[in-house]
Amino acid sequence: MKSVLFSRFFILLPWILIVIIMLDVDTRRPAPPLTPRPYFSPYPLPTIYAITPTYSRPVQKAELTRLANTFRQVAQLHWILVEDAVARSELVSRFLARAGLPSTHLHVPTPRRYKRPGLPRATEQRNAGLAWLRQRHQHQRAQPGVLFFADDDNTYSLELFQEMRTTRKVSVWPVGLVGGRRYERPLVENGKVVGWYTGWRADRPFAIDMAGFAVSLQVILSNPKAVFKRRGSQPGMQESDFLKQITTVEELEPKASNCTKVLVWHTRTEKVNLANEPKYRLDTVKIEV
Ligand code: UGA
Ligand code: MN
Repeated sequence: MKSVLFSRFFILLPWILIVIIMLDVDTRRPAPPLTPRPYFSPYPLPTIYAITPTYSRPVQKAELTRLANTFRQVAQLHWILVEDAVARSELVSRFLARAGLPSTHLHVPTPRRYKRPGLPRATEQRNAGLAWLRQRHQHQRAQPGVLFFADDDNTYSLELFQEMRTTRKVSVWPVGLVGGRRYERPLVENGKVVGWYTGWRADRPFAIDMAGFAVSLQVILSNPKAVFKRRGSQPGMQESDFLKQITTVEELEPKASNCTKVLVWHTRTEKVNLANEPKYRLDTVKIEV
């Protein structure tokens, strides 16, 4: 009886050891990095091109600082910063030089007649970014890339970049704190976008904020005429008017767990109070803020 037990024990022993070793090896495996570095991937990591329109105001440098702090944590990101100005400003030039990010600094002023409340913003700046992107890739076969419009005041989670990086044509996801609701999102059924959860103008063909989609570089290059339009574009319709030119609702790729996670927030910075800023007897040193 004893010898039977013994022999069973010795038959089982190697298997038990194998199971223990496997469990041990598995738990020691490090967690995958949030943004995989290129050399971990068998394919080149698609470059994310972020087009950011920006304009001079008291909070500009603060906004750009928050944005750069986010972007610096994203692998293979190229920042296209487009100033709404007649020339590149010293503040932004200095800022970019120290930002430690691959970047391109452009500028184009918004014509005065379009600088009115109720009119779409940053049309010319986003188009300048698109033109640069098309020009840069004019002669070479398109490298894998993804374009994303990143306004300077929104809040972006790092997970968002992981999601958009796999965009094949046009991808979409929810945006928090927008449209008069806690969030807006594309409604998804069987992996396809079938409608929009929104509190504002649900009749928009693509009821989505600028922060809610990404486009592959390939799609941008194969639709060279797709731009943001001033003529006929109503406020809040810019996104729809642009997306209409390059895709269809059926074609959209839902991200962020079938559009059930908020990974970007349409935050807006309140206007700063400068009521006590002196008009004369200014500070003895000149400080950039
Ligand atoms: C909403 C959308 O989220 C924007 O993408 C859209 O451009 C805008 O409406 C619109 O009405 O056109 P909202 O927060 O109201 O956003 O707009 P802002 O954040 O004030 O401006 C959007 C971007 O354009 C920002 O990056 C901002 O720096 C830039 N901007 C704004 C300019 O370059 N020039 C301006 O005169 C105003
Ligand atoms: Mn904004």
